[in-house]
Order: sequence, then C-alpha cells, then structure tokens
Amino acid sequence: MMNEPLDELVTAVTKSPKYRAIAPDLIRRIGVAELAKRRSFKEAVKGTKNKLHQVGGAYWDTAVDYPKALTRLQNAEDEETRRQICRDLMRLHTSTRERLPILDEFYATTLAGLPPIHSVVDVACGLNPLAIPWMPLAADVVYHCYDIYGDMLVFLQEYLGLVGINGRTHHQDILSQPPAKPADLALILKTLPCLEQAETGAAARLLGSIQARHLLISYPAQSLGGRGKGMVENYEAQFWELVNGQSEAASRRDWHITRFEFATELAFLVTLPTAY
Ligand SMILES: C[S@@+](CC[C@H](N)C(=O)[O-])C[C@H]1O[C@@H](n2cnc3c(N)ncnc32)[C@H](O)[C@@H]1O
Repeated sequence: MMNEPLDELVTAVTKSPKYRAIAPDLIRRIGVAELAKRRSFKEAVKGTKNKLHQVGGAYWDTAVDYPKALTRLQNAEDEETRRQICRDLMRLHTSTRERLPILDEFYATTLAGLPPIHSVVDVACGLNPLAIPWMPLAADVVYHCYDIYGDMLVFLQEYLGLVGINGRTHHQDILSQPPAKPADLALILKTLPCLEQAETGAAARLLGSIQARHLLISYPAQSLGGRGKGMVENYEAQFWELVNGQSEAASRRDWHITRFEFATELAFLVTLPTAY
C-alpha cells in the first residue's frame, strides 16, 4: 500500500550512509510511530534516526570495510590465524568486543551439558556469528542469523560459506517479522534491553515468538565506562519479571533456568520442557 509521508521518510532516512543498510521494515515501523507523534515531517525523520542510532548505530564506532575483512579471512593460512582475525573483527562491534575477554569460557560454560546442537537462531546477531568457532555445535549445524544491517549480513553469509557452516542470514526487523525457524538453540544475547528501551513490551513479544528448545539469554554486566553499579541486579530483576510475565504461566513453571555470571555478561540458559 502506498503511504506517501512514510515512503518519503524512508527515503530521507536512508540518504544517510549510516542508515542506508538498515532493514526497511524497521525504518517503517519506527517511522509510523514518529510521524504520528511529531509535529513536523523533519522532526519525524530526526526522531526515526535517533531511535535507529539507539537500537543499532550506537554499537559501531566506525564504518566497517567488509570486503577487506573478507579478504583477510580468505587469506588466513590456518585455523589459528583465522580465529585471530575473527577476534580482531569482533572488536568492531561494541557488543562482541565486550565478550572477547570471556570468549574462551562463555560458550564452553553456558552450553556444556546440552545435547548436540543441530540448529541455531542467532537473534539480533551483530558480529556474533564470528564466534562460531568457540561454540560447541554439532558438525552438521544449521545456523540462522537475524539482524537489521544488510551489508553486515552479506559479509556474514560469505563468512559462513568460507568456514563451511550451513547457514543463512536474514535481513529483517525481528519485531515486525519474528524468526520463523524452529531451532535447538536460540541465542538472544544482550538484545532484550536494547529492544525494550526502544519499545516497551518488545522483549516479552520477542521471547513469546521464539521457537527453540534452549534459549541463551544475556545482558551486559558492564557499561562502556566499566562494570556498572547495580547493573547485574537490575538486569537480573528484568529477566525474572520477563519470565514470570510470560503467558501460559502454568507451563512456564516447567522451564529449567540456569544462571551464569561472567565479568562482562550475565547469562541465563532456559530449557523448555518440549522440543519444537
Ligand atoms: C546489543 S547488540 C547485540 C549483538 C549480539 N547479539 C551480541 O551479543 O554480540 C544488539 C543488536 O540488535 C540488532 N537489532 C536491533 N534492533 C533490531 C531489530 N528490530 N531486529 C533485528 N535486529 C535488531 C542491532 O543491529 C545489534 O546488532
């Protein structure tokens, strides 16, 4: 359906290189709300850009040269060198950068004891798929990545092919179009607070739509300036509120939840009683 102010808003927002690669369905969802609440078109464009910065742009310090990154990975002579390049690249996104000091233990600890993982949905993945070599996954794993940055996803698709992972990237707003793939494991890492900050109720909506047997849900335990005062307690309270507020509360009693606290991240592994 044609909607002129909304189409114009999408065009205006995507003129800026910073927002050009962002999934149009996300720009439209935010744009509709901004057009409704702002006094002028100009203010609605500005408001949309601010929200996009909050949910995505804020995690990048600089634009990434993806062709160069891919060439570096392709030229790696051995597995160890490629892992080091993945580490270097994960520095480029704030969220994966914060995980680097704990990367060797994060997946080994949280996923230990799970049955073989044959399928993963990495929800709002950022550059986290570069951490696949650190994840204890089955050799035949199918890996689905979801995020709003088209250029990053094109790069990640190439990366998955390079390392021989059967994977697919999905360029979409996970709130307008929740991940539809059932999976053994859903990674929902440090994403819920970011979605909830932009839209109240978004975290519960997303959680209710994921079809996975095991969910690894995490929160930052550190702000950019260092370990945040009260951050762990605050996010832990948010997590329990979210879990207790889920519909079908009776069956939620059968959820098995394990808590992990790392220097830079607080994580919960949730196991549901039945497989999808
Ligand atoms: C805090 S980062 C977490 C990245 C990654 N999960 C990790 O822990 O390394 C939040 C991510 O959510 C993505 N994102 C934000 N809103 C989204 C949306 N509506 N749909 C899909 N991805 C979204 C951003 O682009 C960003 O990569």
